[in-house]
Amino acid sequence: MQRRAFLRLALAGVTAGVPISACSPTQRSRRRILLAYFSRPGENYYYGGRRNLSVGNTEVLARMISARLDCEVHRIDAVDRYPANYEATVQRNVREQQTDARPAIANPLASIAQYDTILLASPIWNVRAPMIMTTFVEDHDFSGKIVHPVTTYAMSGLGTTVDDYAQSCRGARIGTGLAVRGEETRSADREVDSWLRRTGLLDGRARTGE
Ligand SMILES: Cc1cc2nc3c(=O)[nH]c(=O)nc-3n(C[C@H](O)[C@H](O)[C@H](O)COP(=O)(O)O)c2cc1C
Repeated sequence: MQRRAFLRLALAGVTAGVPISACSPTQRSRRRILLAYFSRPGENYYYGGRRNLSVGNTEVLARMISARLDCEVHRIDAVDRYPANYEATVQRNVREQQTDARPAIANPLASIAQYDTILLASPIWNVRAPMIMTTFVEDHDFSGKIVHPVTTYAMSGLGTTVDDYAQSCRGARIGTGLAVRGEETRSADREVDSWLRRTGLLDGRARTGE
C-alpha cells in the first residue's frame, strides 16, 4: 500500500478502549537469542478506526514470543516518548523519516555480542520500522548474526524491514520474518507457533531465506 493512501485511511478513525496487562521487559536466559522491540501504547489504528491500547500490539506479540522461546527481552524506549495521540505520532514519524532522524534511546544496550540471533520487533510506521529501530541497529555490530524481522501492522505486513535491516544490520543474515496484523495480535498464538517452528528457533537451529 502506498504511504499516502495508508495515511489517508489511518487518519479517518474513531477511539475505543481495550485494557491489556503489562509485561516484564527483561528476562534471563541461557540461550543466545535477543528479542529487542519497540512498541507504543496509546491511541492506535483499529480496522480503519482508532482504539486506545494500554499495551501496544508489538509488546503483546513480544510477550507471546518470549513465553514460548528461551530468549532475553529488551524493550527499546525513546528519550522523547512518542505521544499517545495517533495523529501527533503520525506527524512526528513523517518528520523523522523525512529527516532520516535517529531518535535517541533512553535505555541503550551496551552490547549484543553475547547473542547470535536477534529478533527485531516493531510496528510498521509509514511502511517501514520506526526510525528508532535504525538508531538501535546502528549502535551494534551484527557481524555473523541472524536477524529476524518481526512486525505488527495494519496493512503493510513486514513493509520494507527485510531490505532495511539487510542494509542497516551490517554483516547479518536476514532470517524468516513474522508479520502479525495489529488488530489480531492478541489471538495470534497459532501464527507465532507456526513461525517459531519454521525458523527452527525453538530447537536452536538457524534457518535463513525461507
Ligand atoms: C505513526 C504510525 C504509522 C503507521 N503506518 C502504518 C503503515 O504504513 N502500514 C501499516 O500497515 N500500519 C501502519 N500503522 C499501524 C501500526 O503498524 C499498527 O497499528 C501496529 O500494530 C502498532 O503497533 P504498536 O501498538 O506496537 O505500536 C501505523 C501506525 C502509526 C502509529
